[in-house]
Parts: sequence; C-alpha cells; structure tokens
Amino acid sequence: MPIVSVVSSLCAVTPERAVGNDELARMVDTSDEWISARTGIKSRYVASPLETTSVLGAQAAKLAIEEAGLKPEDIDLIVCATSTPDKTFPSTATLIQAKLGCKVATAFDVQAVCSGFVYGIGIVDALVKSGQAKNAILIGADTFSRIMDWSDRATCVLFGDGAGAAVIQGVDANEAKGKGILASVLNADGKYADILNVDGGASSNARVGKLRMEGQAVFKHAVTNISSAIEECCEKAGRPVSDIDWFVPHQANKRILDGVAKRLGIPEEKVVVTVDVHGNTSAASVPLAYDFAKKDGRIKKGDLVLFEAMGGGLTWGAALVQL
Ligand code: UT7
Repeated sequence: MPIVSVVSSLCAVTPERAVGNDELARMVDTSDEWISARTGIKSRYVASPLETTSVLGAQAAKLAIEEAGLKPEDIDLIVCATSTPDKTFPSTATLIQAKLGCKVATAFDVQAVCSGFVYGIGIVDALVKSGQAKNAILIGADTFSRIMDWSDRATCVLFGDGAGAAVIQGVDANEAKGKGILASVLNADGKYADILNVDGGASSNARVGKLRMEGQAVFKHAVTNISSAIEECCEKAGRPVSDIDWFVPHQANKRILDGVAKRLGIPEEKVVVTVDVHGNTSAASVPLAYDFAKKDGRIKKGDLVLFEAMGGGLTWGAALVQL
C-alpha cells in the first residue's frame, strides 16, 4: 500500500517583543507611511538574546507535537529550515532535537532562505513516502534581526523573527482518504545570488555578516517565479487553482501577494495576509501565516491549502496540501 505524507498539525510562535514602524522611524530615516505603503508591514517581532532560532523552533515544535497527539520520542525525523542557525554547526535541527528530548533520529537543516519551509515540505514528503521516516517534524525558524544592518533603512524595516513547525506523518493511502501533501515544486537559480545575500560566511570571511538586498531586482522576479511555481504545482497535483480554499504565501510584501493573487485569479478573501503583523520572517513566514488563520478559525481540517515562497538564492517553490 503506498504511503502518503499527512500534515497532522502546524503551529507557530513569535518572540515576545513587537516593534512597530514608529519605533524604527526613531532609529533610521523612515516613516510608518513609507513602510505601510510600500510593503504593508506595520509591526514585526524581534527576538531577545535568549530567544535564539533553536529556542523559538523548539517552542513551535513542542506545540505541533502536542497538537498531533504525539510525544517527542515518537519523532524519527527532524528537519529545520533556517538561514540563521544558533551555530555554524551542529545543525539547529539537532539543537531542537536535544531541547525536545527526542530519541536518536535523523536531523538536519535545510538552507533555502525564505523558501526553506516550502523546500522542507518537499524534502520531508519524499523521505516519508519512501518509508525513511514515519513521524517527522518540519520546523521553519529564523531570527533575521541578528543579521540586519540596523543602519540600512532599505532592509531593516522589512524583516522580523519567529518560528513554526508541522508534524508530517506517513499514513497508508487508503487510510488517509485524500489527505496529504499532494505536490510540491522546488526551484533555484544561483545566478541571482548577489541580489539577496548575507555578506559573511565561515569559509569566505569567517564573519556572520549582514543581509544585503537589491529590493527592486528581487521584486521583479517575485510575481513571475511564484506564479509559475504555483501553476506547475497545481498541474502536478491535478487540481485547478480555483479548488484552493486558502492561499498561504510567504509574507515579504503585500504588493507581491496582491500581484500573484491577481495573476492567478485567486480571490482576495482566500489570501492569508500577516505581513502587517509579522513582517518578513523568512522560513517562519508560511507557518506563522498558517497558524494565524488556523487560530482565527479560517483554516480547518479538510481544506485545500496552497503554500508558496521565494527567497535568497534565488530559491522559490510551492506546495499543495489537503488537510
Ligand atoms: O523574502 C525574500 C524576498 N524579498 C522580497 O521579495 C523583497 C522584494 N522587494 C520589495 O519588497 C521592495 O523592492 C522593497 C519594499 C524592498 C522596496 O520597495 P520599492 O518600491 O522597490 O522601493 P525602492 O527600493 O525603489 O526605493 C524607493 C525610494 C528610494 O528613494 P529614491 O531613490 O527614490 O529617492 C529609497 O531610497 O524609497 C527609499 N527608501 C525608503 N524611504 C523611506 C528605501 N527604503 C526606505 C525606507 N523608508 N525604509
């Protein structure tokens, strides 16, 4: 009997401290008016020194494991999507494994920047379907506040911190009754590495570095890349875009979300928008948005949910999940 990968739970957490646009306007030459109009962002969360990526990731993972009715010792695969690891090594996934008290398991990080969680869905799906894991936890966690150049108004107003996690379980296809990860599309084009990157690294200059972005250049690729990944993903799954109950996109810029929805004919009321409260939280962005719409009662079991993301690399992708 073929195995399908069922998303049993998905939860998210933010750091405690929220930072509004007005607070940033006291630090750099910007305004609430500019940030709101150009991005839709009103506020974002900024992690304290104790709220590291693994701390936030473990908090989200704990919630997801509980919501799935599992115990940490049931988990046999831990994948953490992050570009802001606590340490160069070991992986944040292993740090989370230790914090949760999981048994010996497979654990590793995925580095696909803002597309990390969507990449993780595709990777975990493949490992679960091939029988290499039965009860997986996928975490998307980032603390981009640590790699911000807080004097660069073009970037420091855009990003925030957070974490989300999903339990993905292998279930016999006849038992799953249509639920599961239906398809995913994962893409990258390294020739655009320079337009969004961090100017540090262990082997280049032995520094952590700061995020650098040519915003307009990234923007130019966003709507086209995301739209084509969604179309390919829906085609792979054999489901038209019109079947989607909820569109849960990466939250980089409200203008990008509107552009993609318009191009694909997705009605505004099906688009989950949290960029106003979270900013761009990189790999945490998609699970944070999902959790938000789950908590306010929009997303429910049985819904067809479309995830998408684009980020540094450039990387981009989409995933279609029947809950
Ligand atoms: O998650 C990874 C993927 N990332 C993205 O998808 C981000 C994609 N890019 C974007 O979302 C947008 O390009 C930005 C929000 C980053 C920038 O918006 P934009 O409409 O492309 O603005 P711009 O970069 O063309 O800048 C317009 C003006 C410039 O001033 P001049 O040259 O016209 O005088 C900037 O210096 O706005 C200025 N500016 C600001 N002004 C006030 C840039 N940042 C700020 C700021 N406050 N924070």
